[in-house]
This record gives sequence, C-alpha cells and structure tokens, in this order.
Amino acid sequence: MPEPESWLAGIPARFRARLAELASGRLPPNVALMHILIEAIDPQEARRVLAAACEAFTGDAACLARLREAADLNERHPEAFAAVKAVLARVVHDEAPASDVGGLATAFDSAVAAAPEASVALYTLGSPELLRSATMEVVEVLGSWGLLGAGKTVLEIGCGIGRFEEALAPEVRLMVGIDVSAAMLAQARRRCAGRSNAGFLRTSGLDLAAFSDRSFDLVLAIDSFPYLVQAGAALAARHIEEAARVLRPGGDLVILNFSYRGDPDRDRAEILAAAQGRLELVRAGERPFRLWDGLAFHLSKG
Ligand SMILES: C[S@@+](CC[C@H](N)C(=O)[O-])C[C@H]1O[C@@H](n2cnc3c(N)ncnc32)[C@H](O)[C@@H]1O
Repeated sequence: MPEPESWLAGIPARFRARLAELASGRLPPNVALMHILIEAIDPQEARRVLAAACEAFTGDAACLARLREAADLNERHPEAFAAVKAVLARVVHDEAPASDVGGLATAFDSAVAAAPEASVALYTLGSPELLRSATMEVVEVLGSWGLLGAGKTVLEIGCGIGRFEEALAPEVRLMVGIDVSAAMLAQARRRCAGRSNAGFLRTSGLDLAAFSDRSFDLVLAIDSFPYLVQAGAALAARHIEEAARVLRPGGDLVILNFSYRGDPDRDRAEILAAAQGRLELVRAGERPFRLWDGLAFHLSKG
C-alpha cells in the first residue's frame, strides 16, 4: 500500500480516500461529508476527522477551502449523521444483490418514514434546503439539454417523494411519477397537491406495462436504476427496453446513476446492450452536477 499524503497520515485509513477526493475537488463537499458520516462511528468522530484534516492540510488554499466547507456543512447540519445512518440501516446501497422488488419497496417505505430527504438523496444529508438546491440543479441541466418544454409529457421511474414532479410540473404538459413504495407515493401526492398536471401510480416495479407505446417525450430515472440493477441485471435491461417502447420517436431517456458499482464502463456497456436497435447514446458517463456526483446517461429514440 502506498504511503498516504503527509496531511492524511494521522487520520484513520478508512477516511483518507474520501478526504483526498474532497480536497482535490473530485467529490462535492456534501457528497464527501455523506461518505465520512457513513464511515463514522458517531457524530463526534466525523467532526474530529474533519477538524484534523483542516488542521493538518498544508497545500493549496482552494483545497483547504473545500475541506473547511465540508466541516462547516457538518456543523450546520447536526441532523445529518442520524439521517444518513437511518437510511443505510434500511436500504442497501452497495453492490450486494438486494432483495427482490417487493423487499426494496418495504425498505423504501421504512426509509422514507425515518428520513424523507435522505431516503431519496443521501447526499442532501436530511436537509430540505440542500434537497431543493440539488433538485433545481438537475432541472437546470435537463433544461440546458433541451429536454423540457410546455408540450412535453414526462415519466419518472422511481419518483420517491415527488421532488422532480413538483419541480418539473410547471415546465411541462404532464408529469407522471411511478414507484413501488406506497409510503414514497403518499409523500409525493402530498408534495404535489397543488400541481394539477402531476400524477402518481404505484407499479409492480417489473416493467412499464401500465403505459402505452409512444406515450412520453421524456423518461427519467434519477437514482432508481441502481436498485433495478441490484434486483437483477435483467430487470434493468427490461426497463431500458420498456422506456424505448413508451417513448415517442424523438423522445429521450435520461438515467442519472445506473448503478453503485463504481464502474462507468460496465454501466455503459450494459446500457448499450439493452438499448441496441432501440435508442442511441447521446451522453455517457458525464458528471454534470455541482452538488451531486451522479453519473448521467442520455439516450434518444431516433
Ligand atoms: C433513491 S430513491 C430516488 C427517488 C427519486 N428519483 C429522487 O431522486 O428523488 C429510489 C426510488 O426508486 C424506487 N424504486 C426502486 N425500485 C423500483 C422499481 N423497480 N420500480 C419503480 N421504482 C423503484 C424506490 O422505491 C425509491 O423511491
């Protein structure tokens, strides 16, 4: 194993890689903090580690500023440790095969009851403000890719608490969110009570059979494919085929995070195999966000 950089030497080894990524700017401060909280035994340990890193760091001022930003975030969000741990106690986030779709629905029912914001976006640390900022950043990127507009019909696979339906409904003609978790959908319906063009449906999680061919202009899957992949590669492939079926010609599929395997080349290869002859790859493996390290795949139906 190589020697750690000198400023990391006094810090427990399990935190070093994330701190180095944070300092170098490869990980946004809130995402790095999420990883540190995942590793930490208690909130005090996370605080000690961040303080020690800021104290020991001797390099570039911009790098030190990133370390300090994560430490400040930790101070401003004392609820973050409990929120992150509550979700992780219920939902498996690593590569290990999760239970079937029914098991995932139960896990998300429980997670959303414990920590609504963290259950859909762990990197928002349980903070409604961070969730709002991260949501609007995604909406801005989708807009900059020319995917939104007053005439568009949009389907989100795995809509969670409906943050994207709330944000996108004013931008499009119809916004439909589907999910396997009844508790997620209950929150989504409450959140979007004032959005008359937003609708929600509990689905089997096995396909998009509830929808006709060529009925949407845009299909979104924001941090939901990792759970399809966990439930089985065939389920993920079937959803790409199904997305192609329900898209109109010229429509788009955007998958933000395909898996949590940390292997973008493998993600790309599996997406391409399922999309073959149905959808063209427009963007593969970009990380377009400031508040999230989500990996973007954008496909289009010619
Ligand atoms: C991490 S959350 C993301 C929610 C939402 N897209 C967001 O970013 O706020 C993942 C969601 O996918 C849902 N999900 C998991 N497997 C699913 C499946 N097979 N079909 C539909 N939804 C699924 C979960 O219930 C959960 O609400």
